[in-house]
Amino acid sequence: MGRSKTLSSNSKERARIKVEDKRLINCAAVDVNQLMPIKYPWALEHYFCGCANHWSPREISMAKDIELWNSGELTAQERVVIKRYLGFFSTAESLIGNNIAMAIFQYLTNAEVRQYLLRQMFEEALHTESFLYIVESLGLEPGEIFNMYRENDLIAEKDALQIELTEALINKDFTTETLEGQQILLKNLIRYYLITEGLFFYVEFAMIFALRNNNKMPGIGEITEYIARDESIHLNFGIDVINTLIAENPEVWTEEMQKWVLDAMDESQDLEIRFALDTLGDGIVGMRPDMCDDYVKFIADRRLERIGLPAQYYRQNPFPWMSEVIDIRKEKNFFETRVTEYQSASRLTWS
Ligand SMILES: [Fe+2]
Ligand SMILES: [Fe+2]
Repeated sequence: MGRSKTLSSNSKERARIKVEDKRLINCAAVDVNQLMPIKYPWALEHYFCGCANHWSPREISMAKDIELWNSGELTAQERVVIKRYLGFFSTAESLIGNNIAMAIFQYLTNAEVRQYLLRQMFEEALHTESFLYIVESLGLEPGEIFNMYRENDLIAEKDALQIELTEALINKDFTTETLEGQQILLKNLIRYYLITEGLFFYVEFAMIFALRNNNKMPGIGEITEYIARDESIHLNFGIDVINTLIAENPEVWTEEMQKWVLDAMDESQDLEIRFALDTLGDGIVGMRPDMCDDYVKFIADRRLERIGLPAQYYRQNPFPWMSEVIDIRKEKNFFETRVTEYQSASRLTWS
């Protein structure tokens, strides 16, 4: 079935595990209970990076956002952008968590990779909680936000592409013992990590940061900053998994498979641009609709290059400040920031 091995009742078959026996998939030589010896140090590095960046949404104040949301000072288009952001992400986060728990976890037969997946599942739960917290804080209708993936055609179209590949792995006949099965697993990883987390998320992050850059919805902006920081680790982990799977199983990386990736990226960038234009209308402060075309295509090329495929679109980045928000601010420590704020506000007494 491609799942991990169970412990043998024969003591001779329970010899000590050697690092060279560990493999990303179909690892029949070892079971998955031993982290050491480490075969893939990058997986643990991503795990420690995620832990070092720990944060909690309910510690972030939504007071200014609530005031602004109720003040009538936001434009109608800005309100659409915020609701669409909440509508897409509130369910995308749980789709990703479910894909890990129900689909890929059992087929990635390596202990350190699973250690990271456990961390990522928790972060996706934190992200889902973030959207619940924002919806509650602003007093939005939960039914409207949490059903948007069913009721908005473009969100439904984006999610259907993912759900299809989760279902393929949940099918009881699925196995990674065959080349076809390995390619379906690879498609799932590319669809989720490279396209959903790596492409679909970034345009919406950019819209929220554009608002925050203009002092609009700072609480949502700060929450999104922490989510974006987590997502950049998810993306980098996914790229390492994809490249390792291809390196260990080069027969999966056929011309047909590479064409599938290019076609999937092309279809997705087109879908994302349609979604962005539909969401932005005439534009919001700091973001004109035409900039999205350049940004989506710029990001798509960067993602293709990370798995060894050629750039397709050759656009300039219209939002150079995005990499500053996501990369440089990784240095910001959530708990140090919180403690300082608590102390200055004198709201807590320590006994
Ligand atoms: Fe997430
Ligand atoms: Fe994620």
